[in-house]
Amino acid sequence: MSVHKGNPRVMVTSTLHEDALKKLREVADVKTDLPRQLALSKPELLKIIGEYTGAIIGPSEPFDKDLIAAGKQLKVISRFGVGYDNVDVRAAVERGIYVTVTPVLSETVADLTFALILATSRKIPQAYNYMRDKKWGIERQPYIGMDVTGKTLGIMGLGRIGSMVAKRAKGFDMAVLYYDVIRNKKAEEELGLKYVSMDGLLSEADIITIHTPLTAKTTALIGEGELKRMKKTAILINTSRGPVIDEKAVYKALKEGWIAGAGLDVFEKEPTDPNNPILSLDNVVYTPHIASSTVECRYRMSMVSADNTIRVLKGEKPLYYVTS
Ligand code: 8YV
Repeated sequence: MSVHKGNPRVMVTSTLHEDALKKLREVADVKTDLPRQLALSKPELLKIIGEYTGAIIGPSEPFDKDLIAAGKQLKVISRFGVGYDNVDVRAAVERGIYVTVTPVLSETVADLTFALILATSRKIPQAYNYMRDKKWGIERQPYIGMDVTGKTLGIMGLGRIGSMVAKRAKGFDMAVLYYDVIRNKKAEEELGLKYVSMDGLLSEADIITIHTPLTAKTTALIGEGELKRMKKTAILINTSRGPVIDEKAVYKALKEGWIAGAGLDVFEKEPTDPNNPILSLDNVVYTPHIASSTVECRYRMSMVSADNTIRVLKGEKPLYYVTS
C-alpha cells in the first residue's frame, strides 16, 4: 500500500466494512491493525494519538480531556455508534474537534431489544440449554415463561431507539408507558403511548426497557430502591449502557426474587469479567453488546462513520455530530 507523504492519518479501532475503508483510503492513510475496540487503554492511546487527524472508535476507548489534549492534530473523533459517553465532547468542541455519530441503527437495536424481551420472558436460552443437554420437557416448570402479548411495557428514555421499541410493542398489543425528562406528545399520539412518572413506570410495567444515554444523571438510574418498586413478576431489559443500572443491585434483585428476570446486552464494565456473578443466574439472558451487530447495520454504520470523517478531513461539516 502506498503511503502518501502529507496525507492525514486516521486510526480505526472499529471493524469497518471494506467499502468504507476504500473511501477513507482515497483521502487518508488509514491505520487498521490496532487492537480492536475495548482493547486500547488510555496509556496506549496517549502514546499514539498525536499522530492522527481522525479517529474512528468504539464505545469504550477513553477519549477524555487528557487524550484529547494529546491529540494535537485531531480534527474528528468519529464514533462508530450513537453513544458517545466515552468521549469528553466539551473538551473536543473547545479544541475545534468534531465528535460524530452514526444514527442509523435504531431499528436494529430495537429488534435486539425485542429479541431480549421475548427470550427473557419465554426463557428461550434456558430451554435451548436444556435440549442441548439432550433432555426434553414440554411441560417442565422451569421453562414456563410469561406472556408478552397484552402486557404493559415501560420505556425509559423515548429517543430514536425507544420509539422504535414502542412501535414493535404495538404489534404485540402491549400497553406502552414511557418516562423521559422530555415529554413527547407527538410520539404519544402517533404511537399511542402514555407518559408516566418514573415511579409510575416502575410500579406499573411488566417489562421495563432502558434507552437512555449514559450521563452523570443516568448513572445508576436503576438501583435497589427502583428495583424494589418494580413488580415481582417484572422483567428488566438493558440495551443502552451498563452503568445506567447498578449491576450489584440487579444481581441482588434477581437472586432474591424482587424481580423475575433480566435481559442484558450491556455491562457495567466491558468486556465484563467472565466470572461476573450475574452471568451465573438462571433468570438472566445476556449477549455481549451486540445490539447493532447485523451485516446491514454494520454496513450503514461503516459508511456513515467513514463519511463523517472524510467530510471533516475535507474541511466540510460532517453528516451527524454532537456538541454537548
Ligand atoms: C457500538 C453502541 O458502538 O451505538 C452505540 O452506541 O453501543 C454500539 O452500536 C458498537 O458495538 C460498535 O462499537
